[in-house]
Amino acid sequence: MELFVDTAIVEEIKKAKELGIVKGVTTNPSLIAKSGRSVKDVINEITTLIDGPISAEVDESDAETMIKQGIEYSKMHKNIVIKLPLTQDGIKACKALTEQNIKTNVTLVFSPAQALLAMEAGATYVSPFLGRMDDAGFDAKKLIRDICEVRDYYGYSTQTIAASIRNVEHMNIAMLAGSDIATVPLKIIEKMYEHPLTTQGLKIFAADSKKK
Ligand code: E4P
Repeated sequence: MELFVDTAIVEEIKKAKELGIVKGVTTNPSLIAKSGRSVKDVINEITTLIDGPISAEVDESDAETMIKQGIEYSKMHKNIVIKLPLTQDGIKACKALTEQNIKTNVTLVFSPAQALLAMEAGATYVSPFLGRMDDAGFDAKKLIRDICEVRDYYGYSTQTIAASIRNVEHMNIAMLAGSDIATVPLKIIEKMYEHPLTTQGLKIFAADSKKK
């Protein structure tokens, strides 16, 4: 399973890169707004930091404009993936961009039926939102498992990106459900290193090493 970092803050991406285990980046309009910079500005800088898939989300709602924006973003760098919403227009744009060999990430996926539409349109990735499923009381593990089962049964090559990861438990769900990728905020990646028994074990080893 691969880890992507879910942020548009360049300093966080630099820190994530230093950890040596992050293979890609996802952004969305809310994360871009938090960065206080333009999409193009941020995405351009990210391409100099991470050599892997970088999702840039369109901010238009009709297929024609999404396609134009997608083509424009895709020209910025070979690693750009166009993130599109799961709407009728988003799926049309996904199909059109796929036909032009542009990679896509269909986002805001909350059901296997939605995922099927994205896969049928040739999506490179689908992003089921674990945290938002959890907030609304839905079974996020089942969602990812079902999407993977449908994908494998019908032989699509679309990969799942478990998104909206808010805590380490969401990571456990994504891993155990068999997601191909999880996109994770830096602070949660950092938390994944932690365990009280690791901290306790380190203290014991440090104390014992002084007894030599
Ligand atoms: C990433 O692709 C998603 O846009 C992001 O993980 C959403 O996270 P949120 O539900 O915490 O806003």
